[in-house]
Order: sequence, then C-alpha cells, then structure tokens
Amino acid sequence: MISPSSRANRGWWDGNADDYQLEHGAFLRDDGFVWCPEGVDEADARLLGDVRGRRVLEIGCGAAQCARWLMGQGARVAAFDLSHRQLRHAQRIDLGGPAVPLVQADAEALPFAGESFELACSAFGALPFVADPLAVLREVRRVLVPGGRFVFSVSHPIRWAFPDDPGPRGLTSDRSYFDRSPYTEQNDDGSLGYVEHHRTMGDWVGLVVASGLAVTGLLEPEWPEGHERVWGGWSPLRGRQLPGTAIFSCART
Ligand SMILES: C[S@@+](CC[C@H](N)C(=O)[O-])C[C@H]1O[C@@H](n2cnc3c(N)ncnc32)[C@H](O)[C@@H]1O
Repeated sequence: MISPSSRANRGWWDGNADDYQLEHGAFLRDDGFVWCPEGVDEADARLLGDVRGRRVLEIGCGAAQCARWLMGQGARVAAFDLSHRQLRHAQRIDLGGPAVPLVQADAEALPFAGESFELACSAFGALPFVADPLAVLREVRRVLVPGGRFVFSVSHPIRWAFPDDPGPRGLTSDRSYFDRSPYTEQNDDGSLGYVEHHRTMGDWVGLVVASGLAVTGLLEPEWPEGHERVWGGWSPLRGRQLPGTAIFSCART
C-alpha cells in the first residue's frame, strides 16, 4: 500500500513536472547525468565507475536524463519514477536512440526480481521524499547482486537548519539540525500536498548500514568557481559557505 508521503508526492510531481522540466531541463541536458545543483557531472566524476555492459537501475528518474546518458555509455538500464507526468517527459525526449525502459513505481516497493542489477543510482530521486528510507535501501540491496553498488544524492542534511532561501536569509540558522519533523505543504482541501523528510548525516549512515549496504564514500561537492546558476535554495552565495548536496556511495558486500 502506498504511504501518505508517496501519495502526496505523486500528486505534487504530477502537477509540477512540466514546470520542473521547463526550469531545469536545459541544465540537466536530455542525455546528461547531473548529480546535483552544483553541477557534478557523472561524465567527469565517474562515481559509478565503468558502466559499459552493466545492468543499472535509476531510481526516481524524472525525465530519465541520467538513464539516457548511461545507455549512451553502453549500460543496460531500467528507470522508474513515482510520477506519471515525469515519465511522460521521459517518453517525450527522443534523441533517436533506443527508448529508455521505464516503469511507474514507488521506491518503497520495487517491481524487480532480486539480484537483477550491478549498479543503482539516484539523483535526488525518491530518497528525500519517502517516509521509510530504510525500506527503499533494503529494496535496493535486494535488487543488487552481491558486490553491486548504489550511489545516491540528497540535499545535504545541514541545509535543514537554515531557511531554504538562496539569498542572505539562507545563511542564518533558524531551526535545529536535529529536528526530524518533515517539511509539508497542504492542498486547498487540507490534505497533504507535498512532503520532504529530513535525516541527519548520522541518520543516513545508520540507515545505509541497517539496510545491509556499506557506505564506501561520501562526496560533499564544493560550489564551482564561476557557477552562477540558482536552483531553489542553492546559490553561489550559500554554496560558498555551506554544502548543499551529499552524494553517498554504497556497496552490497
Ligand atoms: C528532484 S526530482 C529528481 C528527478 C531526476 N532524478 C532529476 O535529476 O531530475 C525527484 C523525483 O523523485 C520522484 N519520486 C519522489 N518520490 C518517489 C518515490 N517514492 N518513488 C519513486 N520516485 C519518487 C519524483 O516523482 C521526481 O521525479
């Protein structure tokens, strides 16, 4: 059964997918693999290593830009997202190559057989939004082969303690880093319209370990010199002072 968080977020992403792709599509590039607003590009970072011939699962794929890049590198890819409208954008982008295999699914219950993939990846897909990230991590472990790896990016936990504002207001902490109450928005009828959940850095490490995966790396990308693009609360001003993204590398031992 779908959780209240996932039900709310499915509606939100269906309603906002068009705006998201309009605003960020050019930065993400139709066949680019951008991990975060800081612009870390998998073509340079190679956090997944050599993907050629590997079976790779993209989690919370949006318009499947990353999946398209992976296919271009010779990976065998499946991609899924909770939002039908995001997947419509994934179908809309046609670069003349083979279509990305797409599934509509909730990351808390993966419709894939065990040990189906050597690699899994997620660029801000699903993990910041789910009420039960341990369920997602356990599902990822289940579908990975022994020795398989999972790399995922999320908002850096320290950002929770600050207003989500790209300007100077966003530089002064106004709440506790340790406050785990989720950020929520309501629909006009009072129902839950959007949810984002907060975990501390220690929570994330604990969750990965509890799922049976091991943390093998953590990248806190620095704001690149000359990068001026503002994305929500991410900006050059804040990026110079505070990390905005955490990228965890994990392995199934
Ligand atoms: C910030 S977007 C990132 C999309 C894409 N990875 C990118 O970089 O543009 C977050 C995505 O996660 C998806 N998502 C949210 N909750 C999810 C869940 N429980 N299962 C699968 N996808 C989910 C949303 O529909 C949305 O497409």
